[in-house]
Amino acid sequence: MFKLFNGPRGRYDPLPVDLERTPSASTYYPNQHKNRRFPAIPPRALRHVIIAFVLLCLGWLLFRRGALPGMIWGPGDIDFTTLRPDYLNASVDRPIVIRLTIISRADEFERRQAFREAILDGVSENYVQLAYRFVVGRPVEPDSKTDHAVLQAIREENNKYDDLLMLEDIKDVPARLSEKRYAALKWTASVPEYEYDWAMTMDSDTFCRFRLLAQRLQYFYLTANPREKPVLLGRMGGHLVYFENTVPDDTEDDNAEDHIIKGQWYSYPLGIGYMLSSNLTATIMSANPPLPHHVNYPSDDVMIGAWVAALKDFHDPSVKFETTLDHDDPPVRQVHPRPYLPYSVDTTIIDDKVGWHDFKNRGGFEQTIGWESACVHRMSIEEMRAFRKMDEVKNDWETLPHY
Ligand SMILES: *[C@@H]1O[C@H](CO)[C@@H](O)[C@H](O)[C@H]1NC(C)=O
Ligand SMILES: *[C@@H]1O[C@H](CO)[C@@H](O)[C@H](O)[C@H]1NC(C)=O
Repeated sequence: MFKLFNGPRGRYDPLPVDLERTPSASTYYPNQHKNRRFPAIPPRALRHVIIAFVLLCLGWLLFRRGALPGMIWGPGDIDFTTLRPDYLNASVDRPIVIRLTIISRADEFERRQAFREAILDGVSENYVQLAYRFVVGRPVEPDSKTDHAVLQAIREENNKYDDLLMLEDIKDVPARLSEKRYAALKWTASVPEYEYDWAMTMDSDTFCRFRLLAQRLQYFYLTANPREKPVLLGRMGGHLVYFENTVPDDTEDDNAEDHIIKGQWYSYPLGIGYMLSSNLTATIMSANPPLPHHVNYPSDDVMIGAWVAALKDFHDPSVKFETTLDHDDPPVRQVHPRPYLPYSVDTTIIDDKVGWHDFKNRGGFEQTIGWESACVHRMSIEEMRAFRKMDEVKNDWETLPHY
């Protein structure tokens, strides 16, 4: 701001003199003789003119910001000036079938509504066939009156939309998020694996363009055969903790956590979202006892990668596992965890760095939104609604949004 006022003044103060010297000055004043001296404009008056001009510009900018829905973006948030890839116009051989779960806090009514209207409404069945549920736990407000009101409102919401997976047994607290993720997969796997392609879970603050997702799958990952092969797709981080199922589901202790051991580094999908092939989902759900699913926030997404890694690594004698000082008494010792399944499962992991990312300046995997951003994490409700309406993306859906 300071610079804005200083810059022009410094540059334009000698204007009266300049005017006489620059050849172009004569074109502004064609009738005046070249050598004629203009009466000097007093610098103070000039200053006022410049300040007024700058204020007018600022006012205009602010007005535009308020008036156009697209103007809620900051510099670098979105960039559609690059070349639009051709595959964005391509159709897909057959629609991909996704069973989608959205991890949602019980009292996020407004966000769920924005999600329905901005993301789910109007997805083309030629690209994606979606069955979905918002996954909510049992509200636990300290004030039981609020609690009751939230529960009542959730029931009404579900009567209206029939799209909530209400987990009455799981408290809606961060420590139980991993149990929500597990329950979400259980819902997915309630139909046979040959009836769908992907079990997808995403956060309620992630925006996904499902048509683009289908196009990216066809264009880049044609060999991923989700009904017959174990595949995990998302944006990957790295970790090296593995879990053994030691906590019973009916524990009262929210902070109880499955036994943690250390192994080798593996990829896990960040909470932005992840897609497990139906084959992998069915494999995971076939384990008995169930895979460990009491993993405290914020490692609830690490859990997914730990399962996939353990399905292979627990069978591999060359991978060394040991206890940790954080979770076991010293000394550190080598352990031999019991495999989840009698056979080893080798999962193909797809790290989609271009398609899946955090919003600019919001998290470790931030990127500018562009043509190929399929799933963007950490978007506000207003941003979701505005993004859907943008000219560059609105044709991803069959209809314009109803808001
Ligand atoms: C691709 O789609 C865009 C947007 O729908 C359209 O403007 C453009 O003309 C299409 N390009 C081709 C080559 O079909
Ligand atoms: C998953 O695919 C593998 C082959 O890639 C197959 O052996 C296995 O039976 C399949 N599992 C399920 C549950 O469909």
